[in-house]
Amino acid sequence: MIIAANLKTNLTRKQTTDYVAELESYLKTNNITQEVLVFPATSSLNPHAGDVIIGAQNAYATQNGAFTGEIGLDHLNEFEIKTILIGHSERRHVLGETQEELVKKFNFYKDLGFKIIYCIGEPLEKREAGKEEMMKYISAQYEGIDTSYENLIIAYEPVWAIGTGFTPTLEDIEAIHTDLKEKSTAPLLYGGSVKVTNAKEVLALQNVDGILVGSAALYAEHFCTMIQYAQDLQK
Ligand code: PGA
Repeated sequence: MIIAANLKTNLTRKQTTDYVAELESYLKTNNITQEVLVFPATSSLNPHAGDVIIGAQNAYATQNGAFTGEIGLDHLNEFEIKTILIGHSERRHVLGETQEELVKKFNFYKDLGFKIIYCIGEPLEKREAGKEEMMKYISAQYEGIDTSYENLIIAYEPVWAIGTGFTPTLEDIEAIHTDLKEKSTAPLLYGGSVKVTNAKEVLALQNVDGILVGSAALYAEHFCTMIQYAQDLQK
């Protein structure tokens, strides 16, 4: 299974270094064979050798150039980063990234063979508008995306569940994951208020291939507990 931590705008470089070291030690001591990914803040990136895969939360579709505030391929190469998160709801809704911009990033990093965790998910009003409306909204987030890309991982994260403590019911997660698997057979993660108290149940669901965790992953100990759940499930 795939267990991913999105650290967002948290943990300094020093804190991230300690965090990743704690994970590495846990993975080794407990013979963890699951795929563990960590997305630190850009300024907390470090060269890293180990079992944890470090990814970037964002990067521009460029090698370098005049894009104030952005980083490009040169910056990722410096840290040997080959994994990127694209389409997170905070990028879409808070930073205003459009589907067109996301597709540009997707294609740029796909052509370089990057592992891409591509996020999708509906806001509350779309969920409340009924299944048809909701699926129409989600389907639009697949537009322009090569769903058969071999290094693609999809993360379904309902916007209203991110950082709120609310989650869909387990039945709802399973049902939507089953529908989404028809659009792409790429590994499909669930994200949105996953924590130690619900991770085991979510991971056990059919068509859930892993989790993408935000706030609850900020504590290495909690994240390790979730990694252990995945390991114990042996899916
Ligand atoms: P959360 O965030 O776990 O804090 O809800 C998940 C995410 O944004 O990936």
